This record gives sequence, structure tokens and C-alpha cells, in this order.
Amino acid sequence: MNERFASIREEILNGMNQQTSSREVYEFRKLFMDSKTGKIGQLMKEMKNIPPQERAEYGKSVNELKEWALAQFEEMDTRMKAKEMEERYASEKLDVTMPAVTVETGNLHPITQTRNQIIDIFAGMGFEVFENKEIENDYYNFTALNTPKDHPARDMQDTFYLSPEFLLATQTSAAQIHAMETKELPIKILAPGKVFRSDDDATHSPMFHQMEGLVVDKKITLCDLKGMLDVFVKKIYGEETTTRLRPSYFPFTEPSVEVDVSCFECGGKGCKLCKGTGWIEILGGGIVNKKVLENCGIDSEKYSGLAFGIGIERTAMLKYGINNIKLLFESDLRVLSQIDDN
Ligand code: DAH
Repeated sequence: MNERFASIREEILNGMNQQTSSREVYEFRKLFMDSKTGKIGQLMKEMKNIPPQERAEYGKSVNELKEWALAQFEEMDTRMKAKEMEERYASEKLDVTMPAVTVETGNLHPITQTRNQIIDIFAGMGFEVFENKEIENDYYNFTALNTPKDHPARDMQDTFYLSPEFLLATQTSAAQIHAMETKELPIKILAPGKVFRSDDDATHSPMFHQMEGLVVDKKITLCDLKGMLDVFVKKIYGEETTTRLRPSYFPFTEPSVEVDVSCFECGGKGCKLCKGTGWIEILGGGIVNKKVLENCGIDSEKYSGLAFGIGIERTAMLKYGINNIKLLFESDLRVLSQIDDN
């Protein structure tokens, strides 16, 4: 019996040096310690075959062997794990003094940022986005909007005609007609889009962006327009800003208004930005002309509407202090990277 114990000890001692990882130590340990198949486990099981008078002595020896073996495995396991940790540290060495790799992140274009901000503000007042077309026909862009054949806006000087019938949209107002033709009443839409005009100077570009707003419901008045625009200007230009409506003319609204915002640069005292007047013109709007409602089959006795058109470049230029519209189209990162509101 003693020989058997001695041979197990020797086997463990010899085997120990051959283990190269904590995983191997674990497997090696199992060969001895597993309660069913391990060599020491089996010695325990054999207890019942030992004559009773020798049993106590036998049990003591097996326990001694077991404890010795456990200590051996424990020590080996600790050594292996320490070695493995060191290897891992060496292979994953990190130099915290190395300069960091800077990852350049882009940002949305100022026009996109401004468009998103405008949409967010009006979405908060219950408007839904309605898609615009870039190519329109004469009817949607002009006729249905009460812009007669001899109106100067139809002039070749202003409009890019693709054919006698089709043209590049000159205003997002065409979306009003599409919305009124296709949507159920009441309507509350915001239609962003690209528009095109033969116009080119420091504040005009042949292609620019507009955002059309249209509400058609019962009892819509100019007060609704002013209320909504007040919310809009406060969110875009700051809480102190207010609006002022001036009479104007657009064929598709009656009455029509130009909307001014109190100068957010000087607070209304008069400065370069507001040309000394304390007010800055920001958009056009009005009450939808009854003729326009009727062109779309809407009963103008029961329903009324408000409409407004916002120039997105103009809004962005005022908000970010950009004095030339070309800066918004040149894709110069020195300019674009300065504007990041999102
Ligand atoms: N369509 C006009 C333009 O391009 C802007 C405009 C004015 C839109 C008044 C409107 C409005 O909806 O009611 O100059």
C-alpha cells in the first residue's frame, strides 16, 4: 500500500515539471483528484475493502496524501497563473505616454443643421414634413398659386425652364398645392426643398433652399401665423427676439406679410447687421389666398389657411454671421468646421 502511495507521489512530482499552463495543471490535477476517476479519488473509494482494524490508519494516509497533492497543485497553479499574467502584460504592453491618435470627425453642413433645427421647432408645434419636388410644372409652381401668365416671376430672367411646361422649382410654395390635393384636412405641413432662380450675388445663389409651411384648418388667422413665428424666432435667434409683420404682396396669400425679427445682434438699437433699423427681414407669409384653396377643391368659406416660406441659407447666414452665401457652397472645411450646433 505504501508503495502505491509513494508511486502516486512520484508521479505527481515528475508530472509537475511537464505542465506548461494553468489549463494543463488543471487537467493533470484531475487525473488524481477527480472523485470518481482520479487516482487519489479511487484510494478513497477503496476504503470499504480495507479490513476494519486497518481502516483508520489507511484513511489517515490517504488524507495526508490528498492534502500534500492539493498543496502541490495549488502551488503549481499559482506559479502558472503568475507566469501567464506576466506574458499577457508583456504582450499587451501599452505606452501611456504615446501621443493619442486623433480621429477627425465631420459635422453636418450648416444648411443641413439649420434645416434640421427649423424642422425640430415646427415638429414641436405639430407640423409634419412633406417632400418637395425639384422639377415642377408650370401649373404647380405658378398657375395654381394664383400667379398669372403675365406675372414677372415667370420671366425667363428668373426661372430656369426645362421645356415650355417644366421648370426647376423656383419656390417651395408648389408643395402647398401638392399637399392640399393629396392630404386630408386639416393640414399642417413643413416642406423643405431646393429651389432655383437665375440670381447670383453675395446674398443670392442660383440654387438655394427654402422651407414652406402650410396650415389649413377652420378659423386660421394671422394671429396663428404670428404666434408660431414668435416661437420659431425665439428658438432660432434667442429668447429675447420678437417679430413684426409688415404688409406685403404675394399672389398666393391675402393678406401677405413680410416678417421681421428684432435685431438679435444689437437688441433693436440699430447696428450694421440691421442697417440701423433694429429689424431684420426673415421671411414672407400670409393667409392663403381663397383662390388657391379653391384651386385645390377646398371650401374657402369653411376653411382658411396660413403659409410661410423661410430661406434656409438666409436663416443660416444670419444665425452664424456669414456675409457671403458662396461660403455655404464652397465646401471649405475651415468655414464648415466652425459651425457645429448639433
Ligand atoms: N414663395 C415665396 C418666395 O419664394 C416665399 C413665400 C412668401 C412663401 C409668402 C409663402 C408665403 O408661403 O406665404 O419668395
